[in-house]
Amino acid sequence: MTTRKATERADGAQSPQAEPQSGAPRATGSTREGGSKQATGSPHEGSARTAEAARATHAGGAAHAAGSAHDHVLPSYARSPIDFVRGEGAWMIASDGARYLDFLSGIGVNALGHAHPRLVAALSEQLGTLVHTSNLYRSRSQERVSARLFEATGLEYCFFSNSGTEANEAGLKMARRFHKEAGAPRAGVLALEDGFHGRTFGALSATWNEKYRKPFEPLVPTTTWIAPGDSDALERELTTRDYGVFLCEVIQGEAGVRPVDFGFLRRARELCDATGTLLFVDEVQSGCGRTGRFLASQIAGVQPDIVSLAKPLGAGVPIGATLCTAAIGSRMTPGTHGSTFGGNALACRAAEVFLAELFDHELLDRVTIAGERFALGLDKLAKKHDHVTCQQGHGLMRALVLDRDAGPFADAMLREHLLAIASGGNRLRFLPPFIVSDDEIDEAIARIDRALTLDA
Ligand SMILES: Cc1ncc(COP(=O)(O)O)c(C=O)c1O
Repeated sequence: MTTRKATERADGAQSPQAEPQSGAPRATGSTREGGSKQATGSPHEGSARTAEAARATHAGGAAHAAGSAHDHVLPSYARSPIDFVRGEGAWMIASDGARYLDFLSGIGVNALGHAHPRLVAALSEQLGTLVHTSNLYRSRSQERVSARLFEATGLEYCFFSNSGTEANEAGLKMARRFHKEAGAPRAGVLALEDGFHGRTFGALSATWNEKYRKPFEPLVPTTTWIAPGDSDALERELTTRDYGVFLCEVIQGEAGVRPVDFGFLRRARELCDATGTLLFVDEVQSGCGRTGRFLASQIAGVQPDIVSLAKPLGAGVPIGATLCTAAIGSRMTPGTHGSTFGGNALACRAAEVFLAELFDHELLDRVTIAGERFALGLDKLAKKHDHVTCQQGHGLMRALVLDRDAGPFADAMLREHLLAIASGGNRLRFLPPFIVSDDEIDEAIARIDRALTLDA
């Protein structure tokens, strides 16, 4: 699925850790999962350029410039001033009527696009019937969703939460509990460099980028990181019994769509089996069909013990899910973990609709077909533009790897009214909705092509 030009470094593109970091925060603050990562040269930096570019193309937004005295929203995001008011399929419409082609899906969330008729009908009905009951009572909707997730993954138990980071917290607690109950407590977490797992303390503790961790130390002091693909480090660490879990992504999303070598992952599975370490795959970004298979681990041929899901699962309604084997799940007895909102009736109804679209309305197959068309288009752009090294990814999780900072090109894409994001310093990351049409893919390629002509 990866095509490389001869000029690309054998070890892939530069690590985000190796990027030159600007000393002072940019005017618009951090962009990790922020609204305006669009134009940032690094996913770890805010981008004044983003706001400028957006203001230049979207006069209506200027009134919302960061720092307004009346703005009480915590300034932890570098938000673009673009003020979206409506969505239609793969398009988003701003308050001034400007239409943007959405190849970001709210950072991998809006898999059914915007205002999907079956989702709208089901949620409208659910709102008028039952929204929330708490987890004190039987939930048939959780039973239905978890049964579908079991069919899709072979993992017997499912805990519902509200986000990716919560799904990871639950998985980390499951692993702790599993080993403790087995009479051999193991707190160690082995994780991958460049991995991103979320912002809460446990998930943050396993996230690679120091920029997110350092300001909040002390964190959970149990993580060791190894480089993806470093077989020697894998053999050295995973032949010990120090680790409760090996936590990894199959395709590192926030790092800019970096697929981890499948052989490396399969070897990790073998070593986990040999040492009793649990294999915990974070599929918050790569899961739920984004790659054309329900789990990216299925492409790699690896069966995890624990999987975290979130982003597209509720097609925009917040829901996270942590799946695990029966051996792990059966140890999570009443009181061991919980969430007031997790898996409520509204969120589960959204997940039911999403899973029905994926499996009963052939959306999963469509992701593969659409992904191939998109990859072909990106390959052509890589051949045409000297500063594009290659495209990488699977299904509708793709990146263009550049030989330079991707920020200015992300700005240019925004000027072309294409929503996407610069990640990992030199990558343009695309996460279009699963319902994207062939024409919309071709249109996106034309817009990316124009954006890449920028002399940067
Ligand atoms: C792989 C991965 N794990 C976890 C998270 C955190 O998810 P959330 O922002 O929903 O907490 C993300 C978010 O980008 C992610 O990409």
